[in-house]
Amino acid sequence: MSQVVLITGCSTGIGRDLAQRLTRSGYTVVATARNVDSLENVQAALKLPLDVTQPESINQAVERILQQFGRIDVLINNAGYAVRGAIEEVPIEQAQQMFEVNVFGVMRVIQAVAPHMRQHQAGRIISISSIAGELVTPANGAYSATKFALEALNDALRLELKPFGIQVVLIEPGSIKTQFHATVEANAQAIFANPASPYQSLYRQVEQVTADMRRKEPGPEVVSRVVQQAIEASRPKARYVAGFPVSGRLVLLLGDSVWDLVVRHLFKIASA
Ligand SMILES: NC(=O)c1ccc[n+]([C@@H]2O[C@H](COP(=O)([O-])OP(=O)(O)OC[C@H]3O[C@@H](n4cnc5c(N)ncnc54)[C@H](OP(=O)(O)O)[C@@H]3O)[C@@H](O)[C@H]2O)c1
Repeated sequence: MSQVVLITGCSTGIGRDLAQRLTRSGYTVVATARNVDSLENVQAALKLPLDVTQPESINQAVERILQQFGRIDVLINNAGYAVRGAIEEVPIEQAQQMFEVNVFGVMRVIQAVAPHMRQHQAGRIISISSIAGELVTPANGAYSATKFALEALNDALRLELKPFGIQVVLIEPGSIKTQFHATVEANAQAIFANPASPYQSLYRQVEQVTADMRRKEPGPEVVSRVVQQAIEASRPKARYVAGFPVSGRLVLLLGDSVWDLVVRHLFKIASA
């Protein structure tokens, strides 16, 4: 039997494209989503409900996969979303909920799947981070914090699971054409539209920069291609950038003051 791949968040975007691509390539894909009806037109060997914030739904999905296929060879932690706004203005409850999905959700699924991979002394865990997991821009700090946390978890996990033959990989996409931006806009609506906000000029500039970026953004297939490379590489890298011209780590070598200068120029941030 071909490798069994479990993917979270397949209703739209990168997860959906990945499920289709890997199915076409002959993998046994288990596509999951909070609402299983959203997977109606997705090609996959098995479709299951899975909400990464609900331990019961994760355990039921993992049990069902093991019953049917006996193993999980590849886990792709894809489910995630962003809340935008200045740190002073993002409601704590919204930030907490985002951490529940982007960080604790990933941890929960890893904790459910890793014991089975250890038993087989093999497996690959791939998490969709973001270029925002390396580079921080204003009004995106809370989302970046979730992806920084995800990067830290995976850096530890890579070393912890190495003795058990399990490889751990991070994928860092740039801006990609999916439902992601519609969700960001819906979440930011109340914050960005508040005329009393002291960050109004920053928010207008963020909207402008985002609109410019979106005109050039590639589709999810750019990320799916890189994920497939990471699955098939005999010695996968710790990190792959997808749909962004340069590694965030390389940019950071320039130092904080150069990065701040670039960002201040881009977002027209003046000194007091
Ligand atoms: N698009 C970009 O520009 C971009 C750039 C860098 C990184 N990323 C990352 O790429 C990943 C996929 O995003 P995308 O661009 O494909 O956006 P998307 O089209 O909005 O897809 C996000 C997926 O996450 C799912 N999801 C949200 N909360 C969930 C939960 N509690 N349990 C299970 N699934 C949940 C959504 O399901 P529902 O339909 O049920 O909400 C949806 O399937 C995310 O981790 C995102 O942070 C995206």
